[in-house]
Amino acid sequence: MSHLDAQAEVRSYHQRTKHGFDRYASGPGFMDWATQPDPFRRYAGAEQIPLPLAADRHDALYADLFQPGRVPEQPLTLETLATLLELSLGLSAWKSFGGDHWALRCNPSSGNLHPTEGYVVAGAGIARLEPGVYHYQSRDHVLERRCRTDWPFAGLLVGFSSIHWREAWKYGERAFRYCQHDIGHALGALCYAAAVLGWKVRLLDNWGDADIARLFGLDREKDFGAAEREAPDLMCGVGPRFAEPVDADRLLQGLATGRWQGQANILSQNHSHQWPVIGQVDHATLKPRTEPACAEVEPTPCLPTHCEVRAADLIRQRRSAQAFDGVTSIPANALWRILDATLPRPALPPFDAWPYPPRVSLLLFVHRVVGLPPGLYVCCRGESMEDGLRQAIRGEFEWAPAENCPGYLRLYRLARANAQRAAKQLSCHQDIAGESAFSLGMLAAFDEGLNIGAWMYRRLFWECGLIGQVLYLEAEAAGVRGTGIGCYFDDPVHKLLGFSDTRYQSLYHFTIGGPLDDARLQTLPPYAHLTR
Ligand SMILES: Cc1cc2nc3c(=O)[nH]c(=O)nc-3n(C[C@H](O)[C@H](O)[C@H](O)COP(=O)(O)O)c2cc1C
Repeated sequence: MSHLDAQAEVRSYHQRTKHGFDRYASGPGFMDWATQPDPFRRYAGAEQIPLPLAADRHDALYADLFQPGRVPEQPLTLETLATLLELSLGLSAWKSFGGDHWALRCNPSSGNLHPTEGYVVAGAGIARLEPGVYHYQSRDHVLERRCRTDWPFAGLLVGFSSIHWREAWKYGERAFRYCQHDIGHALGALCYAAAVLGWKVRLLDNWGDADIARLFGLDREKDFGAAEREAPDLMCGVGPRFAEPVDADRLLQGLATGRWQGQANILSQNHSHQWPVIGQVDHATLKPRTEPACAEVEPTPCLPTHCEVRAADLIRQRRSAQAFDGVTSIPANALWRILDATLPRPALPPFDAWPYPPRVSLLLFVHRVVGLPPGLYVCCRGESMEDGLRQAIRGEFEWAPAENCPGYLRLYRLARANAQRAAKQLSCHQDIAGESAFSLGMLAAFDEGLNIGAWMYRRLFWECGLIGQVLYLEAEAAGVRGTGIGCYFDDPVHKLLGFSDTRYQSLYHFTIGGPLDDARLQTLPPYAHLTR
């Protein structure tokens, strides 16, 4: 497919999956419980390697993660890998209500449907783990050995794929977007989990999707049969340090002598709806191999967090607020720290993993921030984004620097207003956008991204998901709570700002405030069902 055809396909998908006041993107319109997908992928017949539940052995504070060198580097062992997986993709709790029970995980997911699957490529030198390719099965905290082979490399790679059907079952055509958000969240979760171990994550952005599919065995027709297929997403180097770039060809050659095992499970016995447009946009956004990206990020100071909670505890306590109390406010200093943590910084998680320049800025609906008048604000996550947004946003806004806010946060008030109603309306009439302390939309440099390649479409959502993961953890650290918002009205947001073209598109919303707990739900520990 030519670059122009792929771009046209992406633009068409994006346009048709917009929600509007008068029309929602096509979806099933009801919950077909009979075909609800199994939330856990399993490979029957693959040897299982039980992982220890070892996260509690790591005492780094959340604040330590933002002081380079503060957390001692842990060695690569089965135990430290187990902690990495537990704190990124592992279960965080079970919830039960009226006879139903469902698992929550450290990584959030739209509708709790969890399309993201995690894979590990273990090289030589990981204590107590043989080299090979493994799938992480989070329900039982085990690795399933997919391929046993010797590699010409030492170290650890972790990567993700998506099972689009899991989201499409509920959300129809817009599901592809949500799968991408979830990948961004999972990448963020991986970075924070790695930081607890004194490790770093590096996105291997030069790899092509076909490389990832081959390495994870996603292209092995007979291992899937009638089971739902997985789309390759990303591959990361993970560990205490990186020696050389990992060469995809050398690893793929290592597969030649590999012995594969395991048959993927069928998640839904039948699919009552088909969403061919998802297959089309998936195809159009397949990434070829590319030269490594290199982001030049402007150096900025860093506001400290004062959170003294253990990072492993904060990560597992992360939840989405189902409702907000409509009264809790946060101090302006807390907002400055939250915004500060979303800035790209080459040495701090999670953006140390992100090789691209920032292409997403924030449109804030400020409701309850002490020291900041309610209204509409924009936070530009980089100098070039500020120039672009000033040109794209219609002229009549104030652009007044937010009072007492550090200048490098580039936070500007567009208008003083009670923005609660607007925030709620624009977020599909969800109260959570107006009853919080503040909510926001994420404005992505859409044309700029797509001009690089249609595959950048997915990465724009990943960047939003990464920012979302920062916001979730920072909300917990500030003693409040966040919730991702995938349901919002696209073009009405653009209209509010006067966008006349697609230079910027709002790709994700988020909200943070004082949560209301639902006392009817019972909370159970994540791994009480395991005997180890
Ligand atoms: C991409 C994304 C979109 C979401 N959209 C919404 C939304 O529109 N409304 C809402 O109430 N919750 C939304 N959520 C929150 C999820 O429902 C929540 O993450 C999921 O139920 C799992 O719960 P947890 O976050 O507490 O682990 C979203 C979460 C993500 C990651």
